[in-house]
Amino acid sequence: MTQDEPSIVILTGAGISAESGLGTFRDAGGLWTQVRLEDVATPEGFARDPERVLAFYNARRENCRAAQPNPAHRALARLQRARPGAALIVTQNVDDLHERAGSPPDEVLHMHGRLDRTLCNFCRHAFDDDAPLSTARGCPACGVQALRPDVVWFGEVPYHLERIFAALERCDLFVSIGTSGEVHPAAGFVAHARAAGARTLELNLEPSAGARLFDKAVHGPASRIVPQWVAETLGEG
Ligand code: APR
Repeated sequence: MTQDEPSIVILTGAGISAESGLGTFRDAGGLWTQVRLEDVATPEGFARDPERVLAFYNARRENCRAAQPNPAHRALARLQRARPGAALIVTQNVDDLHERAGSPPDEVLHMHGRLDRTLCNFCRHAFDDDAPLSTARGCPACGVQALRPDVVWFGEVPYHLERIFAALERCDLFVSIGTSGEVHPAAGFVAHARAAGARTLELNLEPSAGARLFDKAVHGPASRIVPQWVAETLGEG
């Protein structure tokens, strides 16, 4: 990254993967309108009914494997390759579509974890894993049968927060793509970046809960508005 290139932090949410066939959470027909998040995305839900929770995530893993990156994922990867080190993706998504689109893995931070990784709920050992989750499988490190998806559940602390806040304080531009702005701490990133002097841009199907905090907003499907924004940013306008 050269001095004159703006450093950009790009927050992505479920909306960027919607056109890849991975449902969002709070839209009509979204995941949390079909199942209670308390039952499948909390430590308490896992303690109550681990079989149900693991079945839920095994199904999400299958869907994710069957999905393909869309033009929005590919456009962001193109931006990152054209401007090495200038654009950091902070994603709330647990799918690997950014990486499969060609984003450099060390420039994508999965703050809510990843579906293709497994975590031992006993010793916290985490590992890449594409075998079905099961209560019968023991942890490869401690042997205890307490495996779960390496996904951050409600009430748990997201990953990479220190690196994320450091990047928000340094960036010149904060861009939010495909997120409703309903869930903290991600929903607070725009205010943090703004307070540190960054310009702010929202790219979403509709105004999010934090819309008033953005200097500029473009509304439409990510597969159309994200490639347009990347082309403008790369001066191909
Ligand atoms: N293009 C652009 N934006 C879209 C599209 C699309 N094709 N489809 C939907 N959206 C927008 C919706 O308008 C909405 O604002 O994406 C947003 C999706 O919001 P949510 O379903 O709330 O998903 P997200 O913001 O990522 O949720 C945050 O909550 O459930 C937890 O951990 C989970 O990471 C998730 C977090």
